[in-house]
Amino acid sequence: MKKLRSQYWFEGVNPHVFTNRSWMAAQGFSRDVFDGRPVIGICNSWSELNNCNAHFRQLAEAVKRGVWAAGGFPLEFPVISLGEVFMRPTTMLYRNLMAMDVEESIRAYPIDGVVLMGGCDKTTPAQLMGAASAGLPAIMIPGGPMLRGYYKNEVIGSGTDVWKFEDMRRMNQLSDEAFTEIESCLSRSAGHCMVMGTASTMTSLAEALGMTLPGSASIPAVDTRRYAGAQDSGKRIVEMVKEELNIGQVITRQALENAITVNMAIGGSTNAVIHLLAIAGRLGIGLSLDDFDRISRTTPLLVNVKPSGKYVMEDFFYAGGIPAVMQEIRDLLHTDVLTVTGRSIGENISKAEIYNDEVIRRRNNPLHPEGGTVVLKGNIAPDGAVIKQTAASPHLLKHTGRAIVFADRDDMLRRIDDPELPVTANSVLVMKNCGPIGGPGMPEWAHIPIPKKLLEQGIHDVVRISDARMSGTSFGTIVLHMAPEAAIGGPLAIVEEGDQVTLDVENRSIRLEVPEEEIKERLKKWQAPPRHYTRGYGKIFQDNILQADKGCDFGVLRSDEKDTVQTNDIAAAYALK
Ligand code: FES
Repeated sequence: MKKLRSQYWFEGVNPHVFTNRSWMAAQGFSRDVFDGRPVIGICNSWSELNNCNAHFRQLAEAVKRGVWAAGGFPLEFPVISLGEVFMRPTTMLYRNLMAMDVEESIRAYPIDGVVLMGGCDKTTPAQLMGAASAGLPAIMIPGGPMLRGYYKNEVIGSGTDVWKFEDMRRMNQLSDEAFTEIESCLSRSAGHCMVMGTASTMTSLAEALGMTLPGSASIPAVDTRRYAGAQDSGKRIVEMVKEELNIGQVITRQALENAITVNMAIGGSTNAVIHLLAIAGRLGIGLSLDDFDRISRTTPLLVNVKPSGKYVMEDFFYAGGIPAVMQEIRDLLHTDVLTVTGRSIGENISKAEIYNDEVIRRRNNPLHPEGGTVVLKGNIAPDGAVIKQTAASPHLLKHTGRAIVFADRDDMLRRIDDPELPVTANSVLVMKNCGPIGGPGMPEWAHIPIPKKLLEQGIHDVVRISDARMSGTSFGTIVLHMAPEAAIGGPLAIVEEGDQVTLDVENRSIRLEVPEEEIKERLKKWQAPPRHYTRGYGKIFQDNILQADKGCDFGVLRSDEKDTVQTNDIAAAYALK
């Protein structure tokens, strides 16, 4: 094994090393921790402001047991945590900030390998993006989903059922008292949202990428096996350092294609498209929306979990979890890619079985013959848009309707329940200026509520279009991630009330039925809305953010260089000064 990176900080006799060892010893560590043990950073996104990750301190203790047992030296450090339901205007505004925090913490400190702890939506991709740029050995421990919720003996799921109950409340079919009672029935334990929302999707894809020990994504947060798995991960990262198994050897183009395939099979969140594009960009891997479209056409939806299906993550775990899904679609995967176990993904899943084929369907009985997430293009979204077809209404997948246009979300909230809104079951609701710059931060606003007027007629879905994202727990015929966004003059900006819009999912098309000359004329007259920020992180975000089809990363954080060792060497060299 070559000299450990941490030894540049802790080995030898000189004033700098003296200082490093002496100051570290202030925490009560005995001298032998500096005798060539790999230093393992435990990158912890714990926070009481992020309930989904609130159990991570105990989980980190389990990691430390494994690191000590394997002869490593564990040091836990915090990074900014992104609590999905609490942060305003949206956690997506801060995903790149967290990724920078992760990357620079790993690079600047005497770390040889890192354990990434992610759970709530953005914390997993941010950890993977930062670690990918840092380029050291890394393993991920997902926080795990909450236990299933129950209300009056019915299983209820985070987010997905909340939207349904809210529609019932707006229709006076559910009292405020009952609505409030459901709050305490929904979140029964530590962990992240327990449907196949963004959190469950991204931890599942971390596993599909080969970044976790097999089977870890879906173990409930409070199951003892999660803690045992954390301990095993602590042990494994020490071995990975000795084997010089870096993250760039695990997250390859083939591994990313596996993750896309699994995303289609599990009915994963549309947000996964953005996050996988961003992770690929960190490693200089030229992934594009076309890869998602190609893979979605050949991958069946097998996982019967909300919002595309019926069950929740706890059921998915008992049914066999990600290894069972991957085994069932084995022929669609690159099975020889390397994982954090040191073995191939094919070896990792070779003994996996489906234990409940209602929750994880067999290939001959899929929920849908194609993948959940579909990429659309057309004159209104030249750089692409996305729809989760498996969470949409089948009768709306090919539809032309008259546009009802909202200038932004505030305009939508003001008018959506106005009895004068000229909306019908055939209308297409268009909302502008909710993208990366317009939002700002591309909030999860694409799930435009169904106007009360339609709910009263028993209509629960219409085509909705925007440049926002939506929660992975949402459902409906919702076209989102329209690129380029309206706030920078994408054609979405010039849609007018009464225009005809055509959605054709089978042909992967979203079109504004207005002559091209007219579109050009309107674009010439278009005026940009004022930007949100003049200073601070918001201004940095605004000036550097890429569009949805590029993963919404900052341009300066993407890499065309696969080899990040050089920057790590620079950090190590500085440690000697
Ligand atoms: Fe954290 Fe849903 S709010 S995962």
